[in-house]
Order: sequence, then C-alpha cells, then structure tokens
Amino acid sequence: MPQLLAPVPGEQVTTRDHRPLQLRHIEPADVAAIQRCFTRLSPQDIRRRFLHAMSELPDLMAQRLCRIDPALETALVLEDRTVTPGEIRGVGRIYVDEVVNSGEFSVLVEHDWARRGLGALLMQRLVDDSRRRGLREIWGYVLQENRPMLELCRELGFERRLPVDEPGTAQISLQL
Ligand SMILES: CC(C)(COP(=O)(O)OP(=O)(O)OC[C@H]1O[C@@H](n2cnc3c(N)ncnc32)[C@H](O)[C@@H]1OP(=O)(O)O)[C@@H](O)C(=O)NCCC(=O)NCCS
Repeated sequence: MPQLLAPVPGEQVTTRDHRPLQLRHIEPADVAAIQRCFTRLSPQDIRRRFLHAMSELPDLMAQRLCRIDPALETALVLEDRTVTPGEIRGVGRIYVDEVVNSGEFSVLVEHDWARRGLGALLMQRLVDDSRRRGLREIWGYVLQENRPMLELCRELGFERRLPVDEPGTAQISLQL
C-alpha cells in the first residue's frame, strides 16, 4: 500500500472578505467532515461536481475520497477552524493518469463560501501541483451550463477541447 502523505499543518489563507481558512491535504480523519460538507451542497452543486445527481455520499465513497494515494492523487481541503468541529468549505482534487502524463481535476466550494476567491485559489494550487509533478496537462469535465466554472477556468487560461461524447459536457484543459 503506498505511503500516505504526512498530515500537513496547513497554510492559513483568507477569503476576499477576510475569513480565515486552513489549506491542507485531505486526511483519512476527514470522512465525517466531508459527509457534513456534502449535506450542505445544493442538488445543482452536486450535479456540477459529480456530473450526476446523488442524494447522499455513501460511507465507502467518503472513505475513498479521504484516503488518497499521494503518488497518483492530490486532494486539498479548505478547513474552517472558526467552528467546532472544523468544517470543510472547499475541496480540490487531481487524479493523475501516468500513461498520458496528465491530471484530471475537480473542485468544489460550498455555496455560502462562493464568490470569495476560493475556487480560483484551489484551481491555482492544483495547477501548481500538476507542474510540480511534471504533468504535461491538467484537464476536467465541466457541464456546459456551469458558467461559473467555465468562466473561472477561462480566466486561468484553460481552453475547451473538442466536444466530448457526453452531451451537455465540455472538456477543458490547460497545457503545462
Ligand atoms: C465553480 C466553483 C468552484 C467556483 O468557486 P468560487 O469560490 O465561487 O470561485 P471564485 O470566487 O474563486 O471565482 C473565480 C472567478 O470565477 C468566475 N465565477 C465564479 N462564480 C461565478 C458565477 N456565479 N457567475 C459568473 N462567474 C463566476 C468569476 O470570473 C470569478 O472571478 P470574479 O469573482 O473576480 O468575478 C463553485 O461555484 C462550485 O463549487 N460549484 C459547484 C461544483 C462545480 O461546479 N465544480 C466544477 C466542476 S468539477
């Protein structure tokens, strides 16, 4: 079994309106917080993040999301420690495909914390991490109706690829 990353103490970041958050790698102990975060998402947020509807985040899936293989995955969380227990307000991930040397991203920011620069912060860190890994590209699927994400990615220099088989879905990518 690959060795997990040591827990990272965390880097303090702030939202545009000066709310403090800890940016750190996800940990196996985050399962309950990830499940609480899921319950705060709207059906639209869930569909945009997972590309299909889900009414709950099953235990096994939550465990899988929190216990990553750092050789092939990065998962960063934004933890709000002003509340007890701490709550996860945003998550950004990369899954590496070694065969083609690229990384597939996903990102999520809780609705009440949106429009404060966190999505852009997470995406920038994922781009930085992909460069550190020496990947040639970072890419992801985004629903075509997901204007916020398409706009965010456009501002970061991502481009749309040719339409994919999935109707209503765009594939966007950034060459590194
Ligand atoms: C998409 C998402 C990650 C954006 O997160 P966020 O924290 O609100 O984004 P930011 O505050 O960093 O915004 C960065 C830029 O994105 C664009 N943007 C974000 N939300 C927008 C909106 N509702 N409408 C238009 N543009 C928007 C803007 O250009 C914004 O820059 P600005 O605020 O200076 O105008 C968040 O809305 C989300 O989690 N959505 C549900 C899950 C999802 O769609 N994931 C993407 C597919 S994996």
